[in-house]
Amino acid sequence: MKTNILLAIESSCDDTSAAIIIDGVVKSNITATQDVHKAYGGVIPEAASRNHEINIIPVVSKAIKEAGISKNDIQAIGVTRGPGLLGSLIVGLSFAKGFALANNIPLIEVHHMKAHILAHFAEKPYPPFPFLCLTVSGGHTQIVKIDDYHDMEILGQTIDDAAGEAFDKSGKMMGLDYPAGPIIDKLAQKGKPIYQFGIPKIANLDFSFSGLKTSIRYFLRDHLKEDPKFIEKEKENICCSIQTSIVNILMAKIKKAADETGISHIAIAGGVSANSFLRSELKRYGTEYGWNTYIPKFEYCTDNAAMIGISAYYKLLAKDFSNQEITPAARLEF
Ligand code: KG4
Ligand code: ZN
Repeated sequence: MKTNILLAIESSCDDTSAAIIIDGVVKSNITATQDVHKAYGGVIPEAASRNHEINIIPVVSKAIKEAGISKNDIQAIGVTRGPGLLGSLIVGLSFAKGFALANNIPLIEVHHMKAHILAHFAEKPYPPFPFLCLTVSGGHTQIVKIDDYHDMEILGQTIDDAAGEAFDKSGKMMGLDYPAGPIIDKLAQKGKPIYQFGIPKIANLDFSFSGLKTSIRYFLRDHLKEDPKFIEKEKENICCSIQTSIVNILMAKIKKAADETGISHIAIAGGVSANSFLRSELKRYGTEYGWNTYIPKFEYCTDNAAMIGISAYYKLLAKDFSNQEITPAARLEF
């Protein structure tokens, strides 16, 4: 069989990442994170694109070196076309177009959210088709039914904030750095879920987190009026309560989707799938309801180029190539 050597690029938000995939196996996966956004409580698009421009060449060089190949060995390039921040996507896509043109190799566009799901094919055991995936990131929250590498259907999604945003915005209200998700996760491990917040009442498989956000805002405001040191003193319990509320909302919908579809292969993906409570709850539900559960390794949860490379690999096998006219897309049809 012919060897496939692929370079993959991810630059949709604030992480610049490059990976080398050989015959569907990840050989290197290098990510440069951007600390510049921490102080602002969110990603500053202009700063993100400037930093992608600074990071992209060193990150690609490192990925090539770590995989033990040379630039001339690369036979195709996969790149995130969207969804994401336009200025960020432009850097990765322009690099990929130039690289494809200069080396006369195919260009393969990849959908960022589909790639989060296909990260499950970076390492065995692979989930069998069909399976359900709860994809939870900073910008999206979706329940997806996956029939094949190229055939996926969104069964439900958020109507307002994403799960990651719910973590980040709650953390911001508490004065935590961006992204607050991992910080809340860590603090929650020392706390108890003693506080209750509003639970959304949405009948179908869609999600809503804006009510929870408002409920947390008023909760903090009222307690701070009585005791200005409330957050400082109760940090761990507040974080544990926020995390429990968000994860309970997510798990209730996954359970509903499993019941409605009769599918019992259940996966999680995206940045929030790094959350320790979500991971343990998925396992617990799996044991209780007889599901086979699939949880990505930490390096494949948050944004990374390996997942772009795995997606591009399956498109390469299907000879699904893009042309030089493609443009980045802030929103991209699933
Ligand atoms: O998938 P991702 O890296 O980027 C997007 O495509 O958005 O997801 C980033 C999101 C952020 O909101 C971050 O706070 C959240 O994932 N996140 C976590 C954890 N690690 C990352 N949320 C909760 N617990 C974590 N351990
Ligand atoms: Zn992502």
